[in-house]
Amino acid sequence: WTATRDKSCKLPMPKGSMGFPIIGETCHWFFQGAGFHASRRQKYGNVFKTHLLGRPLIRVTGAENVRKVLMGEHSLVTVDWPQSTSTLLGPNSLANSIGDIHRKRRKIFAKVFSHEALESYLPKIQQVIQENLRVWSSNPEPINVYRESQRLSFQMAIRVLLGFRVSEEEMRCLFHTFQDFVENVFSLPIDLPFSGYRKGIRARDSLQKSIEKAIREKPLHTQGKDYTDALDVLLESAKENNTELTMQELKESTIELIFAAFATTASASTSLIMQLLKHPPVLEKLREELRSCGLLHDGCLCQGELRLDSIISLKYLDCVIKEVLRLFAPVSGGYRIATQTFELDGVQVPKGWSVMYSIRDTHDTSAVFKDVEAFDPDRFSPERSEDREGRFHYLPFGGGVRSCLGKQLATLFLKLLAVELAGGSRFELATRTFPRLISVPVVHPTDGLRVKFFGLD
Ligand code: HEM
Repeated sequence: WTATRDKSCKLPMPKGSMGFPIIGETCHWFFQGAGFHASRRQKYGNVFKTHLLGRPLIRVTGAENVRKVLMGEHSLVTVDWPQSTSTLLGPNSLANSIGDIHRKRRKIFAKVFSHEALESYLPKIQQVIQENLRVWSSNPEPINVYRESQRLSFQMAIRVLLGFRVSEEEMRCLFHTFQDFVENVFSLPIDLPFSGYRKGIRARDSLQKSIEKAIREKPLHTQGKDYTDALDVLLESAKENNTELTMQELKESTIELIFAAFATTASASTSLIMQLLKHPPVLEKLREELRSCGLLHDGCLCQGELRLDSIISLKYLDCVIKEVLRLFAPVSGGYRIATQTFELDGVQVPKGWSVMYSIRDTHDTSAVFKDVEAFDPDRFSPERSEDREGRFHYLPFGGGVRSCLGKQLATLFLKLLAVELAGGSRFELATRTFPRLISVPVVHPTDGLRVKFFGLD
């Protein structure tokens, strides 16, 4: 692939700056965060060029432009993660597969997130959330919500998705290694001692070793529908599709699932807690909904009633989670490569260029959302449903053939967390003002969000 303009196309190239040789605008991006893309979009328009993580890139914002990219998978674009991401996730990951292989792998994964499977994970997710909330409230000091949410979503992935039985010490060790992995998934692909990329490779190798050990020691339950975790479902689903997953495929799939779930869910959980603190009437309305459905009595949650269908039937809860994911979309966008030259907004996207479609900027600039910067869950109520204007104005989970596979699981997790918070926890901001947010690698508060939890009333 070359990164020059397509001379056979009459359209101009997108405007933009390519920054310095080799590093391009990577440093500006790291330091400016969300402001980087916003400032360039304002200067150059919805489709602009830049140079990030070692390669030229065209950044795309706006529902119609994003629709063309996402629906153009296989005809206009294909997946193309930065080299560091691609190497660290491995050749057997969904992120690195295309065409029929991608379709086949997704089909195997689909069962892991089916309604039936989610129903079987629900009690364990709830248990992990309750245990963590208890630990948070027994701490006499305020907690760092973002760091604790990372721990919580990691535990959810290890215990609920993978069913690993690891000791506290092993869990701590795995968590630190995983943090090293995640911190370096988006790094300049320079393989030198002490470079982020090398650190990421070391973390990946160490994770693969631990995961192989845990898989070999794990009792597998692949008979019948009495699933105990997602790994069981994955193995059963592979069998049904006449596929035997190799140990290498299993290890890469496992790391990919934890990676996909970890930072995204932690970011969304932190944003949820911050918005409930900022908007007490929203928290009260959630409590009202729980009371009216018989799930909350005298300030106590009726645990026995919590089934998947009862969670899905809570309409206001659904609006709150949707609004958190609109205003604080954890994933800022996705990476593709143009397989042929095409037009977007009157400029050319030449064959061979990397394309990054934007989620957060698309939400922030969409005309369908009234008072776009306000936290207003009712915009998703049946009466207003502002997102009905078109699918690509609201896309926290992406869209098209590569949309998020874990969407239902992530939503269930966030809803269960909100129910536990509204159902009995008392929590207060421990700082005088709310912190600023930064967006790299995912949206999170600068100080992690310091909150004092007081536990069940
Ligand atoms: C893909 C968002 C949680 C598994 C994606 C994509 C987005 C996304 C935007 C598409 C990226 C692209 O177009 O290239 C989110 C958000 C989450 C979340 C906002 C939480 C709030 C999860 C969870 C899992 C998961 C919990 C699984 C345990 C995946 C997988 C893909 C994916 C496997 C790749 C799909 C493919 O390439 O075919 N996610 N995700 N996600 N997500 Fe999620």
